[in-house]
Amino acid sequence: MPEATLETIRQFVGSCTRCGLHATRTHAVPGEGCPTAKLMCIGEGPGYHEDQQGRPFVGASGQLLDKILAVAGFSRQTNVFIANIVKCRPPGNRDPLPKERQACLPLLLKQIEIINPAIIVLLGATALKGIIDPSARITQLRGQWLEWNGRLVMPTFHPSALLRNPELKRPVWEDFKHVIDKYREIVNPSHHSDYH
Ligand code: URA
Repeated sequence: MPEATLETIRQFVGSCTRCGLHATRTHAVPGEGCPTAKLMCIGEGPGYHEDQQGRPFVGASGQLLDKILAVAGFSRQTNVFIANIVKCRPPGNRDPLPKERQACLPLLLKQIEIINPAIIVLLGATALKGIIDPSARITQLRGQWLEWNGRLVMPTFHPSALLRNPELKRPVWEDFKHVIDKYREIVNPSHHSDYH
């Protein structure tokens, strides 16, 4: 079998039937961004708009994520790759089931291996549980650097939680300040952010 690339994964995902979510999707959402990004953000799974467009984080929480990233000096076009724990929309935006996450995870792990980010931001509980440990709690671990497979991982709240509860914006900014600092330290000392 030829070695996987982001493109072969994208193609595979487009016709993937590894779990039941394929039956109800409009489009699979493989993820998008800079293929050599040193920063990767991982969310939960596509919602309505993502399913319609086949692109991650394009609805309301995606617009907020893009805003946060932009102020921190990151964009999909230049230096970040954005993906999700599952690549197809769970009906009604329910949480992805364990068997759906398990079916999809190898594809995300392959993407991470190919992109080779130094820093991964986990957006919300599903991403934290899916990557680190099913029993991990976002309220306990957000804002703390974790090490995972030789990469630095920063769990923070999901942008949709910020839309529901604007009080969470401050802690998320604190977490992104750590990300900016670490990015300057290990990736690009002259990284520009309007914020910090
Ligand atoms: N929420 C997610 O977790 N991922 C998306 O792509 C969109 C919304």
